[in-house]
Amino acid sequence: MGQASFPEMYERWLVGPLFRPWAEVTFEELKLSPGHRVLDIACGTGIVARVARERLGTAGYVVGIDINAEMLAVARTVAPDIDWRLGNAGALPLHDGEQFDVIVCQQGLQFFPDKPAATAEMRRALAQGGRLAVATWRPDEEIPFFRDLRRVAERLLGPIVDLRHSFGNAAPIEALLRDAGFHDVRSRTISRRIRFEDGAPLLRLNTMALVGMSTAGKAMTDNERKRAVEDIVSGSAPVLQSYADGSGVAFELSSNLVTAKG
Ligand SMILES: C[S@@+](CC[C@H](N)C(=O)[O-])C[C@H]1O[C@@H](n2cnc3c(N)ncnc32)[C@H](O)[C@@H]1O
Repeated sequence: MGQASFPEMYERWLVGPLFRPWAEVTFEELKLSPGHRVLDIACGTGIVARVARERLGTAGYVVGIDINAEMLAVARTVAPDIDWRLGNAGALPLHDGEQFDVIVCQQGLQFFPDKPAATAEMRRALAQGGRLAVATWRPDEEIPFFRDLRRVAERLLGPIVDLRHSFGNAAPIEALLRDAGFHDVRSRTISRRIRFEDGAPLLRLNTMALVGMSTAGKAMTDNERKRAVEDIVSGSAPVLQSYADGSGVAFELSSNLVTAKG
């Protein structure tokens, strides 16, 4: 893991077990048809767009947008045939009049500083009769694996507000979508058992994220932050052990899936 960038590690270690399953669930819900135009907002390294491409083959038009150029660079390497665009969810980089039949925003909305601007942009980008899906993780208090790891980190760092789980209730998401002009807004919680063949990279990346999100971590030098990550990784061993599944680690994970029509 030493020399790889964060986007490379995200793609290598997290996308398969942690993000692909939800992209599959989303497209089970929003069935794609040949010719569909699909937009993946906050695409990261592009798993949602790539699953859409797998399902549509060349009979579709797939665009992925993300604010982070390094995430997009990995997406481009993995799937050069998809139209990857650098841009902000609050001001989507679309061509004049460009619209999509299916829009997905998977684990992105919780990070957007201006959520009403982002949902207004989703509405602008969705063709009449098109369908939208927004997924955000449930609060980590409902996900014992991540809650337990956060508690270990908090012993060293003090209270942590985990941004990844910060928009975990569906009602505010539904309200945002209705306010933006979507109709048929529906939400459900989906839970799945997630399994990692090797829990160590997940633990390290999750710890790096927790340290980075904490007030104490933000005030640290690079070396202090690295030391804190090492200490928390060591202190988390009993948690990892309690979720051991053969040679790997497995746990229940739940996400909101909010769907709407344009
Ligand atoms: C947890 S990742 C999810 C990536 C991808 N959707 C997936 O399922 O793997 C969150 C992504 O949101 C992106 N992001 C955060 N704020 C954004 C914004 N304002 N506009 C566009 N993308 C944003 C980040 O760069 C990151 O790639």
